Parts: sequence; C-alpha cells; structure tokens
Amino acid sequence: MSIPPAFRQALIEAAQRFPTPFYAYDWPTIQARLERLRKAFPKAEVFYALKANPRLGLLRRFRAQGLGMEAVSLGEVYRAYRAGFPPAQVLLNGPLKTPSLLETLRRWGIPILGLDSLPEVRRVGQALPGAQVLLRVNPDLPVTTHHHLATGQGESKFGLLPEDLEAALLEARRGGLEVLGLHLHLGSALERPEDFAAGYALMDGLYRSYGPFAVMNLGGGFGLGLALEALGPAATALARKHGARLWLEPGRYLVAEAGVLVARCYGVKRTRRSYLLIDAGMSQFLRPMLYGAAHPVEPLYESPRRGVYDLAGPACEAGDVLARDVALPEPREGDLLAILLAGAYGSSMSSNYLDTPRPLELLWTGEELEVLRQPQSLEALLAEEG
Ligand SMILES: Cc1ncc(COP(=O)(O)O)c(C=O)c1O
Repeated sequence: MSIPPAFRQALIEAAQRFPTPFYAYDWPTIQARLERLRKAFPKAEVFYALKANPRLGLLRRFRAQGLGMEAVSLGEVYRAYRAGFPPAQVLLNGPLKTPSLLETLRRWGIPILGLDSLPEVRRVGQALPGAQVLLRVNPDLPVTTHHHLATGQGESKFGLLPEDLEAALLEARRGGLEVLGLHLHLGSALERPEDFAAGYALMDGLYRSYGPFAVMNLGGGFGLGLALEALGPAATALARKHGARLWLEPGRYLVAEAGVLVARCYGVKRTRRSYLLIDAGMSQFLRPMLYGAAHPVEPLYESPRRGVYDLAGPACEAGDVLARDVALPEPREGDLLAILLAGAYGSSMSSNYLDTPRPLELLWTGEELEVLRQPQSLEALLAEEG
C-alpha cells in the first residue's frame, strides 16, 4: 500500500506549516472504505466504533453520512452527543455501567445499551426501566488474532455465555427493559471469514431458540485484508431469515487505512543495532508496543543510498521502537517518514506518558487540510494539578 498522491503532497506541505509529529487522515479513503462496507452489507445500519478514532470532526462527517455511533464509555457517549448524535443513534457497550454512569445517562438522554453481564441486566432494569437494550453474547469461539483482541473467546471477560442467556432475558423482561436483540462481537482485526461464519452460525441457533428480536447486531472486528464481500450476503440473509434489522459496529475497517503518523528523522545511531531516531514513539502510537503490530513505513523523501533501520522513538523506554528492520532510503536530518495504517487506535490510544503532549491531528478533505485537533500545550498537561 502507499499514500494517495494528493494526500502525500498535503502531508509534505503540512510538515512545513505544523510541528511534527502529527496524525493526518485522508477523507476520500474513509469514504471509499464506507462505500465498500455499504456495498457488502447494503441493508446494514452502521454504528461506527468511535474508540477507533474519536475526533469530533470525523464523527460529524459520519453523522452526515447517516451512521450511528458505538461507544464504550461515558466519555464516548458525551463525545457522540457533542457531535450531534441523538440518543437513539448511540449504542453504549462495554463491560461495566456503574450506577453513577446510569444516573448521568438518565439526565443526558439514554442511548441504546449493550448489556454484558447478569448483574448489569439487573442494575439497568432498576435504574433505567424501559431502556432499549441488546444482550452481548460471549460466543465461546476461538478466533485468530492477538489474544488481547480475541473478545469472543470463552475465557474473555466479555458477554453472556449462551447457556446464561435465558436467565438474562428473563431478568431483562422482569426489569421492564426492551430487549431489541442480541449482540456478537468476536474480536478485532479478524482476517478469516471462517471466524465470522462460526459466529453467524451461533447467532442463527440463538435467534431460533430465543427470538424473534427486532435487531441482530453482528459487531465489528473486520480486519483490513478481510474480503467483506465474502461475509455480507451471509450476514444479510441471516438477519432477514430472523426478521431482524442488521446492525454492524466497524471501527478499524473504516479509518485505519486513511491515517498516517508523520514523524521527522533526527539521525542514525548504532548500538548492536541500527536505530533511526524519530520524534514519534509509544506516547503517540502504542500499537507496536502493545500488540507487536507491524505498520508499514513510507519515506516522504528520496536518497540514492539505502539502509535498514529500527525506528526508535524519543521515550526513555527500551520498548519504544515503532518498527524493526525497515528498509529505507538513507535519511538526512529533518527528513519525514509516514507510519501507515495509523488511522485507527493510533491517536485514541495515545497518552501523556512522560509529559508528552498529544499531537496535532489533521484531515485532508481532498481539497484542503483541516485541523481536527490542535497540539496539546504543556500548560494543558498541568491544568488539573492547581
Ligand atoms: C463491542 C465492540 N464493537 C466494535 C468494536 C470495533 O472493532 P474494530 O475496530 O476491530 O472494528 C470493538 C473494538 O474493540 C468493540 O469492543
């Protein structure tokens, strides 16, 4: 994969105007991904998993495209409401909704709630009778991905095991909750259609046993290389068979490919390995360290000679290396690199570790650069400390 030419040119210009490192996203790429998703699942209602990339400027654009929002925390619900989504277009999942969170939602407007455990079903029934809910199933299926991302395995903390569903449904109805349907999210970055097929087969059985329901939520988790065309017809037919509306919650699939993290090179250092020193690292982009994720790197410069480097970030941490064994033209000081596939779980997982301010984020609309988020100031880092 490589960066579309107009976006690449915009990145080079942005680096003349703004400090590095920065994130930038290509809106035409996001639109193309959304179109592909809609082609594969023409009947689906899409709730974008905003944890993948929560910038308000993106959420507002998604609203204009008719998407709903999938949130997993009170903060994300707040963000979705601030982006203009009404409660009926916001779905709140996640493993714990505390009484104070539920009380806050009662005041703000109650989104659709994805319930994750029996105690939660009880608590929500007491606090918010009449709320519209889905029950999340733990399908107890093995899936092929990083174990932190395999949320549908029986050992994971998520969802209700199929054998506990009946009790949960009884409890929900006793609490006066309106059960819209069941929710399945198998995991993230899944590349094998067989994993989805196994999940769909399980949902088929559950809808036969416990249905009918108004909605069937088949979650997100689509890996970037997954042939959605292989899944869409099966998912569509399954929902139709049970007379349910099909809901999906993609995050990564829509935004990962559109995003880059642009960093500047500051020389090569040799220990027993050859390190290229760059001004972005784990504080801005955690995925390589957290998941061992391998992200392609594209140089935004040219040079006749080539070398192979590990990309060392500025953090005082041995693990702060964004990529290993990257073949690149030999950089001069100040040259720019783009770390690719950084549009999902990049900025949203960035941290202030080592008092590192969060970086600038830009959107290339296809015509111009928009600032989605200003770089955080050092003063802002201290603001809550008095
Ligand atoms: C419940 C739920 N839905 C959707 C998603 C989005 O996953 P992805 O970005 O892999 O599509 C997640 C991600 O963790 C999730 O937990």
